[in-house]
Amino acid sequence: MAYSPAEGLTLALRGDENALISVPVRSGWVAAAPMGLNDAVTSALIALLRDDLFAAPFTTSAIDELWTADAAAALRRGHREPALRSTARVGDVGTLATLFVLGVAVPAAELGAALPSLGVDGALELGLVERRGALLAPLLDLRPHAFVDELGPGSWWIASDLGEAALGTAIPATHVLGVGGASVTLSGLMIGDRVRSVLDLGTGCGIQALHAARHAKRVVATDISQRALDLAAFNATLNGVDSIEFRLGSLFEPVAGESFDQIVSNPPFVITPRGEGVPEYEYRDGGLVGDAIVSSVITGAAARLAPGGVAQLLGNWEYRDGVDAFERVGAWLDGTGLDAWVVEREVQPAALYAETWIRDGGILPRTAEFDRLYTAWLDDFADRGVDRIGFGYVTLRRPESGAPTLRRLERLDGALGHNATGLGSHIAATLAAHDWQNALSDTELALATLSVAGDVTEERHYWPGDEHPTVMDLRQGGGFGRTFPLGTALAAVVGACDGELGVGAICFAVAQLLEVDEGELLSEVLPGIRELLTTGFLAPAE
Ligand SMILES: C[S@@+](CC[C@H](N)C(=O)[O-])C[C@H]1O[C@@H](n2cnc3c(N)ncnc32)[C@H](O)[C@@H]1O
Repeated sequence: MAYSPAEGLTLALRGDENALISVPVRSGWVAAAPMGLNDAVTSALIALLRDDLFAAPFTTSAIDELWTADAAAALRRGHREPALRSTARVGDVGTLATLFVLGVAVPAAELGAALPSLGVDGALELGLVERRGALLAPLLDLRPHAFVDELGPGSWWIASDLGEAALGTAIPATHVLGVGGASVTLSGLMIGDRVRSVLDLGTGCGIQALHAARHAKRVVATDISQRALDLAAFNATLNGVDSIEFRLGSLFEPVAGESFDQIVSNPPFVITPRGEGVPEYEYRDGGLVGDAIVSSVITGAAARLAPGGVAQLLGNWEYRDGVDAFERVGAWLDGTGLDAWVVEREVQPAALYAETWIRDGGILPRTAEFDRLYTAWLDDFADRGVDRIGFGYVTLRRPESGAPTLRRLERLDGALGHNATGLGSHIAATLAAHDWQNALSDTELALATLSVAGDVTEERHYWPGDEHPTVMDLRQGGGFGRTFPLGTALAAVVGACDGELGVGAICFAVAQLLEVDEGELLSEVLPGIRELLTTGFLAPAE
């Protein structure tokens, strides 16, 4: 039986149902009624919605059946026409996908059939749809999100604001983003070890907080956008997650005086000119000049991490006046007292960066508006001497005690692309491996027994006819898919790391073979061995 407003009265004691009220939840504050209803009524309606989505079943695989792979690819590029032409777009899943994924109005009777428990009245009351004549038009994007994270496979339904295609116009500055490429990158990087507390700074639709809730006892999700918090709270309820507190405020203000075992943030890092007439999209623009939002998150995290706590964030950084951006990023890290590991995945020329983000806001090229914004972007970059912008991942850690021991800033633009799925455990292992090898003196490391990781292969390249290789590389199948160039001595030592002989004994044998001094060979290979341990090519033998 469908929900009716009258029935809703019996579901809860209602307050002012039109007011967006806040009630204390545990120690935090959450917008009680994402869609403007009393909290208990909202929860009851959301539970009915969940039942219907589950029964449909409104899953990614069911949606994949509705249209071709080409149509799905066009949709990802923001074009829904091929999917709209699909003949398979029928049934309840077809109705739900047409409405909430393609953003196209459907007849009320069809929605009523697709949401038999919630009903049309419930969907109207929750603010999912509005009437347009005989049709119901979507007010939100709502779609399943299937994933595999550190704790295995899962699936959620995620509500966010309608995109450009559904709106038929450029998105407003208050747009709340759904799960995008950067969201998936960060959730793929997220370390999934069990912890007590996680802070998700700039939660948006709540996707990182939901992932964090799988391995943390308590999650605090913050945002400057009340609408984002409302949608994130809606998504948590829809997916049966009750361990997230939602707090309104900028950067670390909502968590002043607190500390966390883990901080994750996909901050609004898009560099945007400040000035009249330039849209300030909340979802991507932190309102500061240049890359200051990223430096603010880095320095702010230092004060909010518990001992041993790890912060993981995405960011952009500027290359100014021909100076390597890592010099500036390094200066942000100085004085934080944190271990730091920065991985730069991509560098874009300033002009391309500007084009990309102006277009992302729904402004079409070769229009006066595009040209006006392009000028503003290029002027802003010119003011600071910016010619390129780097994108990457930052991992920070507060040492359990003492001074930081890790400072890696590196460029990894290999085969991985932006797909970071499954990197969380690799990042955790890298931090642990750094700690392990860093705690050993050279003498102690020489006594250690090591083995080569299972995903490592060796490549050798020969000049035609030569007996000895001219190039030898180690290749990593997992992790960041690194390639590590080997010299003759290190190649021989790594090749003998079979978990039986100690590093020193292997070096002794290799030195005999190559007829070189054993001590010199040991000093030559140990830095390489340390690097191979940290990056996961080698591991201490069981
Ligand atoms: C790129 S979105 C990330 C959303 C989500 N965490 C994800 O990974 O998809 C950035 C979010 O930060 C929020 N935000 C913008 N400025 C902020 C600030 N000064 N403090 C906290 N959050 C902010 C935006 O409203 C937006 O929801």
